[in-house]
Amino acid sequence: MSVDLLFHNVTVVDGTGEPPYQADVAVRGDRIVAIGQLEGYRAQRTIEGEGRCLMPGFIDVHTHDDTQLIRHPEMLAKIAQGVTTVIVGNCGISASPVSLPGVPPDPMNLLGGADAFIYPTFDAYADAVAQASPSVNVAALIGHTALRANVMDRFDRPASAQELEEMCEKLDAALQAGAIGLSSGLAYTNAKQAPQAELQRLVDIVGAHGALYTTHMRNEHDGLLDSLQESFTTARQAGADLVISHLKCAGSRNWGNAPLALAALEKAASEQSCNCDCYPYAASSTTLDAWRVDGKMEILITWSEPHPEMAKKTLQEIADLWGVDQWQATERLRPAGAIYQMMNEKDVQQILAHPLSMVGSDGLPSDPNPHPRLWGTFPRVLAHYCRDLKLFDVAEAVRKMSGLSASRFRLQDRGVVREGAFADLVLVDMAKIEDVATYNDPCRTAPGIDLVVVNGVVSYEQGQVQQRNGRLLTRQSVSA
Ligand code: ZN
Ligand code: CU
Repeated sequence: MSVDLLFHNVTVVDGTGEPPYQADVAVRGDRIVAIGQLEGYRAQRTIEGEGRCLMPGFIDVHTHDDTQLIRHPEMLAKIAQGVTTVIVGNCGISASPVSLPGVPPDPMNLLGGADAFIYPTFDAYADAVAQASPSVNVAALIGHTALRANVMDRFDRPASAQELEEMCEKLDAALQAGAIGLSSGLAYTNAKQAPQAELQRLVDIVGAHGALYTTHMRNEHDGLLDSLQESFTTARQAGADLVISHLKCAGSRNWGNAPLALAALEKAASEQSCNCDCYPYAASSTTLDAWRVDGKMEILITWSEPHPEMAKKTLQEIADLWGVDQWQATERLRPAGAIYQMMNEKDVQQILAHPLSMVGSDGLPSDPNPHPRLWGTFPRVLAHYCRDLKLFDVAEAVRKMSGLSASRFRLQDRGVVREGAFADLVLVDMAKIEDVATYNDPCRTAPGIDLVVVNGVVSYEQGQVQQRNGRLLTRQSVSA
């Protein structure tokens, strides 16, 4: 039999959580066609395993790459980690369907300026993705804040009945056109005043389409458990699958509560489809907002529109320079971005290790001084948490980064190494992989990610993007 690619004698970590095994893996066209002792096979190219692991390409379930993958379709930060699919549109912000009357409201500015929002329909966005031909596959959520921004003149109130009607129509059309679900970012000032009832109307539509609801919850601090309950209720009433975004115990008063949050998640998961995503770091990153400032935790400024010269200084250093307090400094710096040292490592590890959690980077590609999660999330899980700390074995690490993610986001025939599945693959040297992206030097490609295949094509090798073969993945309806 003649095939395009043959991986000879690799350790297959198949993405299901099953123990790794030695085999040959053959790829023809965009699919895996055979796994086993493939002696008689002739291949265009044979790759020797040499002790390395073949894994399903990783699925970054939490990204803000909506416009990045159009502007910079090589997507080096992601493919260099072994990521072959990104889910965009998280935290209530998406590039489509959006027509903005003015400047993008916070935190939509994380995706770019007014010129980034040129996709009034999901189809327009899908066309732009196809044109750009990114190196990785893309599936898109629709943001609740983005829907609000289309129809509301101010955000410090609930949407009116008329506005909500228009938001529902836009969401319905986007889901019809292939968006995989809805996201919300209720902690952000511009969505906070949306009552549960506003979300319920929208999530009901999500449920009717058999799609997914992801939420950056209203309160990840002292109100964490209440926010979890609100999320479970909204999704359950709608019959929608739920993913809690970047589950964390935010703020020092909340440290040590991971077991409580995870127990609530487990209980809900016994009655409805719900999971969470998380990134493997104890610092968060987003826009700078006064309510997040507590005067104690370290906050590193990553960008500031009025004061770009203050990037890479801490908020306290800037406040000292100006002779003001941290809240006054915050007002002068905004719009701005920041990294917040607001979690406890033990909570982070408990959430990351839980069987219901998936890995998502939450990386911010437009940030000039990004949090290291943008380039380092997946290598850090494998090198630091799996190999070095032994928080879980490699089969479980890979399941959280591929198989579980594909099944929760309903990406058919992806996230696993099996015959007939799409050939999205990463060849990893577990002895060499290192977590090299740091807060001081965040934009580093990890050693040990030796080769990445996207839809059957070798797309990353020797530290460089070789081909761009990603696709837009549209929603697979349960009923279909
Ligand atoms: Zn978020
Ligand atoms: Cu996010």
